[in-house]
Amino acid sequence: METAQGLRIRGIRQRDLPDILDVDRRITGGSGPSGDRSAASNHFWTYHPPLSFVAELNGRIIGFVIGTIGGAEYSLPDCGWINVVGVDPEYQGQGAGRALVKHFADTCQKKGIRARCLIPRRTGRFEKMLLSLGFKHGELVDFVRDIE
Ligand SMILES: CC(C)(COP(=O)(O)OP(=O)(O)OC[C@H]1O[C@@H](n2cnc3c(N)ncnc32)[C@H](O)[C@@H]1OP(=O)(O)O)[C@@H](O)C(=O)NCCC(=O)NCCS
Repeated sequence: METAQGLRIRGIRQRDLPDILDVDRRITGGSGPSGDRSAASNHFWTYHPPLSFVAELNGRIIGFVIGTIGGAEYSLPDCGWINVVGVDPEYQGQGAGRALVKHFADTCQKKGIRARCLIPRRTGRFEKMLLSLGFKHGELVDFVRDIE
């Protein structure tokens, strides 16, 4: 896959939040989050800066990954969770999403924690990307009881 030249992944800063919202709006077409993912803004108040990154192309933010630390809620040791990842539709397919998730996972590795991500079953392309970056199906499975 061709990676956009000049792509830079760096740690998130508080002042990046408006630009991240702009990217998020472009992903959803301004119609709010789809059923596939929650809005990036839902994660602004719980994110863990050392595990959250933006992708810049020529100084412009074109993508982001927002992560947090957790595990105890699922009786798991601390691990790095990808809460949400997004790339501006204009720049998708050029390697930014992959570079962001790889950077996230490599950072977890350096911290000695596992990287995790919970996704709905139908996000085929994103799942494929996780698998190709060395993620595998983990220990969690969700249970649901339908409304009768
Ligand atoms: C999912 C998303 C983050 C991927 O970012 P991206 O920059 O487009 O992805 P990349 O260019 O790094 O490509 C990732 C993989 O998808 C594949 N891919 C890229 N464009 C594709 C396309 N149009 N159709 C099918 N596969 C495609 C690439 O070949 C690559 O596969 P590989 O990892 O096996 O090499 C981005 O599409 C996005 O923001 N989608 C909307 C939000 C979303 O669904 N987020 C995920 C859940 S939180």
